[in-house]
Amino acid sequence: MVRIRGVVKHFPGVLAVDGVDLDIRPGEVHVVAGENGAGKSTLMKLLSQVDRPDSGEIELAGERVAFHGPRHAQRLGIAMVHQEFALAGDLTIAENLVLGREQTHLGLIRRG
Ligand SMILES: Nc1ncnc2c1ncn2[C@@H]1O[C@H](COP(=O)(O)OP(=O)(O)OP(=O)(O)O)[C@@H](O)[C@H]1O
Ligand SMILES: [Mg+2]
Repeated sequence: MVRIRGVVKHFPGVLAVDGVDLDIRPGEVHVVAGENGAGKSTLMKLLSQVDRPDSGEIELAGERVAFHGPRHAQRLGIAMVHQEFALAGDLTIAENLVLGREQTHLGLIRRG
């Protein structure tokens, strides 16, 4: 379902993601573990198209993904729950989970 090959991401003065390969098959659950600053969130942001990789490839279901931003990733089935400091504290957990893709009816959010 997900195939990541040689993905690299630099920020000024730091190599955040250094040539990561990752394969995820249907039904698998993976844990990405590492110390603070190891690059876990950055790798997930590359998968969810929040950040653009410097090099490397990401394929979903065998199709190479071009970078178009997070809504494109959502349409391809990538859902992301960001770390606490990226959450909106005044919203509920449910509201945070669907932030930006709330289901609406006649302009009102369908709370159900
Ligand atoms: N937008 C950014 N601009 C500059 N540097 C960044 C940016 N995002 C991440 N970094 C740097 O990239 C490296 C990897 O950070 P990242 O947040 O991916 O680590 P992490 O493994 O998720 O850490 P944590 O366990 O603290 O969540 C760190 O050195 C971090 O400071
Ligand atoms: Mg993180």
